[in-house]
Amino acid sequence: MLLALFEAGSSLIDNAVEKVGDNLTSMVLVTTAFILSMGYLSKAVFKQFQPHDKELKYPPYIPSSIPFLGHAIAFGKSPIEFLENAYEKYGPVFSFTMVGKTFTYLLGSDAATLIFNSKNEELNAEDVYSRLTTPVFGKGVAYDVPNPIFLEQKKMLKTGLNISQFKQHIPMIEEETKDYLKRWGDSGEKNLFEALSELIILTASRCLHGKEIRDMLDEKVAQLYADLDGGFSHAAWLLPGWLPLPSFRRRDRAHLEIKNIFYKVIQKRRQTEEKEDDILQTLIDATYKDGRPLNDDEIAGMLIGLLLAGQHTSSTTSAWLGFFLAKDKPLQDSCYAEQKAVCGEELSPLKYDQIKDLTLLDRCLKETLRLRPPIMTMMRMARTPQKVAGYTIPPGHQVCVSPTVNHRLQDTWLQRLDFNPDRYLHENPAAGEKFAYIPFGAGRHRCIGENFAYVQIKTIWSTMLRLYEFDLVKGYFPTVNYTTMIHTPNNPIIRYKRRVH
Ligand code: HEM
Repeated sequence: MLLALFEAGSSLIDNAVEKVGDNLTSMVLVTTAFILSMGYLSKAVFKQFQPHDKELKYPPYIPSSIPFLGHAIAFGKSPIEFLENAYEKYGPVFSFTMVGKTFTYLLGSDAATLIFNSKNEELNAEDVYSRLTTPVFGKGVAYDVPNPIFLEQKKMLKTGLNISQFKQHIPMIEEETKDYLKRWGDSGEKNLFEALSELIILTASRCLHGKEIRDMLDEKVAQLYADLDGGFSHAAWLLPGWLPLPSFRRRDRAHLEIKNIFYKVIQKRRQTEEKEDDILQTLIDATYKDGRPLNDDEIAGMLIGLLLAGQHTSSTTSAWLGFFLAKDKPLQDSCYAEQKAVCGEELSPLKYDQIKDLTLLDRCLKETLRLRPPIMTMMRMARTPQKVAGYTIPPGHQVCVSPTVNHRLQDTWLQRLDFNPDRYLHENPAAGEKFAYIPFGAGRHRCIGENFAYVQIKTIWSTMLRLYEFDLVKGYFPTVNYTTMIHTPNNPIIRYKRRVH
């Protein structure tokens, strides 16, 4: 009976969470109500945020009159504005509380050095990310293993993401994109973010998983990926993992079903004599430093990780790039002219060297990643006291760096809010600051997918620009949806019209 009541309660929470569409503010309220009702609120939570040691200077603490929730609502509504105001008032290092957790932000290149140069045992990634990633990727990979092992796994993946692979990927991405766009017709209006999310998953599956797995990607499998991806939610981050929420159950079921699909493909591959030249084969042949090969479970987990690490990041970035080009028609025309200049008037099928030579498109993508970096905050748990800018951050604080804020600091970037891809051609104050531009992170946790993401996004957009012209609908440039974990465009509808060659 008690269990039934409990299940009903948690299902209500889950439904509420789903209804608010991952809205952080509502999520926070629902969570708080739950936690309060469970009697979890304890004075001890607050105690840990007060300086215990009078000798030490702790970072300035932004007070809040709302117990427990702290600044969650203001931050949830407009995180960048909140951080920029705090930077003005308190300087590059400051702390505040949200939902019972203390966050210390390190803003600007100098302060960010602490995170990027730190040891994982001191500023730890698993402590903050594992509860989200382990149920999705599975055990034995990424943040479920000690960082030296994950570093070995990253090295194996990086071996598979090489230029000879990219050369094979480009025609596959072009073909997938052309096939996909057949349904668009000559002109119309479409939800660009939705379309690019579909295109990113199709192209990533084809390039990163191999042909066998891509061929199985029908609606049912797409739904499994969506359920699995539902694991990356505020609910999963804030609520205890043992709660029997429907979305947690869907995630866990999808995880098992996808792994079963992957196991079959891996086993078949292991049995065939002839070796394929792709990333799956690289993983099958890879060994750890001690000579141990990856087992099927690790390979399947790494395949899930490869797909999902690039899914939201690359689809959001591609969508924002599209809107920046639609807003600035002369720039879009220059990008189209660049296609002809680099690939010839006939616009022959894309090749790796041409993709490299599309330098204007490259700079547009770079500038998109400056103004709309998909990962707004990188986080670590302080396991030991950390010294920065004359302050000591105590253990237990979640230490954060924000690419979004670093990418638009007043002193670092000229005309900081303008979309100007040519800024990288000129004298640029940011160039002298090591961590002024960090869309892919830095240090031991740096992204391994950057080169693939550039190839994938540039190939998709080259194909789209060759086929269509893009316009904003009634001049509307999307506002930023801050309620999702990755900042997506609000109402991302774009108008397109086939080019006449
Ligand atoms: C536009 C696309 C992408 C962006 C902006 C991006 C951004 C990032 C960032 C900021 C980090 C550092 C996280 C941290 O320090 O906490 C990261 C790490 C990582 N990314 Fe990406 N990523 C992108 C695409 C990809 C793709 C396509 C893959 C795989 C093919 C990938 C795989 C990884 C992996 C394995 C890590 C390592 C995490 C760690 O060591 O802790 N990413 N990415």
